[in-house]
Order: sequence, then C-alpha cells, then structure tokens
Amino acid sequence: MVQNAGWKVRVLSRRAQDRGDGVEYVAADLLQGDRLDAALQAVEVVIHLAGGPKGDDVGTRNLVRAAERAGVRHLVHISVTAVDQLPLTYFRSKLGAEQAVRESSVPWTVVRAAQFHDFALKTVQAMAKLPVMPLPGGVRFQPVDARDVAERLVELALGEPAGLVPDLVGPKVYSLGELARNYLRAKGKHRLSMPIRVPGKVGKAYRAGGNLTLTGATIGTRTWEDFLAEHI
Ligand SMILES: NC(=O)c1ccc[n+]([C@@H]2O[C@H](COP(=O)([O-])OP(=O)(O)OC[C@H]3O[C@@H](n4cnc5c(N)ncnc54)[C@H](OP(=O)(O)O)[C@@H]3O)[C@@H](O)[C@H]2O)c1
Repeated sequence: MVQNAGWKVRVLSRRAQDRGDGVEYVAADLLQGDRLDAALQAVEVVIHLAGGPKGDDVGTRNLVRAAERAGVRHLVHISVTAVDQLPLTYFRSKLGAEQAVRESSVPWTVVRAAQFHDFALKTVQAMAKLPVMPLPGGVRFQPVDARDVAERLVELALGEPAGLVPDLVGPKVYSLGELARNYLRAKGKHRLSMPIRVPGKVGKAYRAGGNLTLTGATIGTRTWEDFLAEHI
C-alpha cells in the first residue's frame, strides 16, 4: 500500500531477509540500539510496529532517540487499547513506549488498537487444547482485523502528525466464550467449558469493560466470523 503510494520502503527487524519484493530489509535490534542510525538514514516517516512480550519501552526509547538524530519528520506508533487502564506488566511496558513517543521532539501519531483476530485465534486455540475449556466470566474483546489495522496505519503515515488519534477496534464486542464457541463451531469441535473468575484488579478491570472502547473509536470492517471463515 505504501509502495503503491510512491514511497520507498525499508523494513527493520532483527532478522533481515530479502524477499525480492522491492522492499529494503535491514537487521537491527531495538533493544540493543546499535545500527539504528544507519537504518534510519534518509528516512522521513517511521511506522513503529516492532514489539515483543518485554522491553517495548526500552526499544521505543532507543528508536525515538535515533529518529530524532536522523531528523525523521513523522513517527507513527501502534499501541494497545486501554494501555493506561489495565494493571498488566505488558501494558506498563507499552505505556512506557507511548510515553517515549509523546516526549519525543519528532512529530508523532499514536493509534491504540484492540487485539488482532490472529491474537484472538491463538488464544482460543490454546483454550481449546484443554479437555475442559476455562472461560473467564465477564471478559470481552473487540477484535480487529490486521488488514484494517494496516490500512489505518498507512492512512496515518501518509497524513500529517496527529497526536493520539481515536482507538481502532473491531466491528463487534464478543465475550471470550463467544469467540471460543464461534471458533469451535467453525472447526466442528466440541468442548466442555468451565466458568472461572479472573482474580484481583485485572479481573475487576476486565469485568468492568475497562479494556473496551465503546465510544469514539475508528471501527474496522472485518468481523471475527469473516476471519474464521477465511482461516478455518
Ligand atoms: N497482536 C495484537 O493483538 C496487537 C494489538 C494491539 C497492538 N499491537 C501492537 O502491534 C505491534 C505488532 O504486534 P504483532 O502482534 O503484529 O507483533 P509480532 O507479530 O510479534 O511482530 C513483531 C515484530 O517486531 C519485530 N521485533 C520484535 N522485537 C524486535 C526488536 N527488539 N528489534 C527489532 N524488531 C523487533 C519482529 O521481527 P523479528 O522477530 O524479525 O525481529 C516482528 O516483525 C506491537 O507493537 C503490538 O504491541 C498488537
């Protein structure tokens, strides 16, 4: 999409492999921070999607500093919905990443996205591997399609820096039970389920819908059912 808009694309990750698709691939580790200056040379716009279970705050700080040195004119960063609401270690690191972007002298755009369909699929697949599926009561999600996310990121990257823009969520809200049941139906599988209660502050926040964006969000086009029909 970005190439179609006439841009040259350089992809940074820890493993660079030339895929012969006209994209330049460079290897660098955001957590190490070296090689970022070379990777960002002559780059005008950065779309920051790299991340992992740990250290997104550290990696993002390294990227932001390198982007400042390189004179990048727009940094687009993907974050997670409710990043400032849920007391989860991963969310704390993502919030630190957001803060690094917000404090940067590089003009920025941050979009918080809901869980991708691929993530929901991995979650229900793991649940369905157990002989009895544990179903945390009151936990709901608004899964969004990665293609909707990609399209929105391109739109933001081609636009002007916009600060924190509306969250991006999927078209429907599902309980975790509904996500799992739709998956099982699509697979033609049956599982017994057992309701469980997520304890503590995290459980309370999920049951209160603290992870959801019910108003003011940008809404993706593809549903969980559409995704399952394509992938199962
Ligand atoms: N998945 C979701 O449901 C979801 C929802 C909302 C927001 N997000 C955010 O969207 C972004 C992408 O998520 P994803 O699920 O698509 O992640 P992913 O599939 O795990 O991809 C992460 C990418 O980051 C690269 N990467 C990881 N650590 C790196 C490092 N230290 N240095 C350089 N590159 C590194 C990986 O490539 P290499 O392994 O080759 O380095 C990989 O290409 C993340 O910021 C995530 O927080 C995800």
